[in-house]
Amino acid sequence: MKIPYFRAALSDAEIAEVTDTLRSGWLTTGPKVKRFESLFAETVGVRHAIAVNSCTAALHLALEAVGLKQNDLVVVPTMTFAATAEVVRYFDATSVFVDCSYDFNMDPDYLETTILNVRNSKPVAGLKPPYGRLKAIIPMHYGGYCCDMHAINQIAANHGVDIIEDAAHAFPAYFRSNITNDWVHAGTSSRIGCFSFYANKCITTGEGGMAVTDDEQIAERIRIMSLHGMNNDAWKRFTAQGSWYYEIVAPGFKYNMTDIAAAIGLHQIKQAEEFRISRQKIAERYTERFKQLSALEPPPNDPQTRIHSWHLYALRLNLDQLTIDRAVFIEKLKERGVSCSVHWMPLHLHPYYRQTFGLGEGMFPIAEREWRRLVSLPIYPSMTEDEIDYVIEVVQDVTERFSK
Ligand SMILES: Cc1ncc(COP(=O)(O)O)c(C=O)c1O
Repeated sequence: MKIPYFRAALSDAEIAEVTDTLRSGWLTTGPKVKRFESLFAETVGVRHAIAVNSCTAALHLALEAVGLKQNDLVVVPTMTFAATAEVVRYFDATSVFVDCSYDFNMDPDYLETTILNVRNSKPVAGLKPPYGRLKAIIPMHYGGYCCDMHAINQIAANHGVDIIEDAAHAFPAYFRSNITNDWVHAGTSSRIGCFSFYANKCITTGEGGMAVTDDEQIAERIRIMSLHGMNNDAWKRFTAQGSWYYEIVAPGFKYNMTDIAAAIGLHQIKQAEEFRISRQKIAERYTERFKQLSALEPPPNDPQTRIHSWHLYALRLNLDQLTIDRAVFIEKLKERGVSCSVHWMPLHLHPYYRQTFGLGEGMFPIAEREWRRLVSLPIYPSMTEDEIDYVIEVVQDVTERFSK
């Protein structure tokens, strides 16, 4: 049996809607993007949602909207994907890395210490004095398991710093600080939240992203900058209702979502919770089996305070109990037809960040220790029962065969 790492779940509804878009003759930003934005805003419970062509674009526009400038500082996790930190560099600003907790999310204590060190001009990994202005924090909800936003929001408020949430993995995902509180959707408790609809995300539009906010001015700025800095509703300029006249108010970007992409999103969004439940069921089955094997550590979960999106199922190997390392473990699964991935090598270990900021080994011990034993298993709604059983069987066989 061959189990791909991911296979998108697309129904006839998505295909019919894309066909309808193609037949309509209106391919780029238009009525379907507007509908998708409204539906998204309503679903996560915010006032504004701006659809763009990637989460990376949403993060870039968010930093622009809060006024990030050259030499400013933005705190980001080292345990994240390239996009979270690269957008900071677009401004020639500096990403200040922080370590993660056991759950791979930004560690609030580490965050607080880092901010205090910046404020007091004490040594901070990767920074040379004099330090720039601390402008923002970008927490990222690893695999769709929400960060401790209560603590992070508190720290940001104490220091007057903006939060932009990288919620690329978190649609839908929720948190609450205790069981008597209401659930809060990831990406909505801070100034701006950014979501991804990349091909293998919780819902997809092929490529796509969304920035959400309750702040009218921020929303306006993001919208304008997502389309060349043209003033409002310039996307309508070729329609009967629109006007040929527009003004350029800033040198913007070309980040608008197409109606073709939104056509897919309009039907994916309706299935988002159903997809989440399918992934949760797979995660529960994996965990049920893998917790019985001492060489494996299933991902943490706390259903009292988190509703996990289960975008990732990041299994940890107890390498001291195995005769093989993580790379060989993945190779053995592959030989049996099970494709896996790794999320991620921490950013500070990549050549660009080593060479540019003098970062490297020994600086963020939790991320460095944990990533070496990580394996992301296939987890997606289109997996069949047989495929789920097969992944469990192969992981168990390989683990038992190579256990000490
Ligand atoms: C944590 C995280 N942030 C941001 C992104 C960027 O998303 P996109 O591909 O939509 O730009 C990704 C993509 O994988 C991601 O994993």
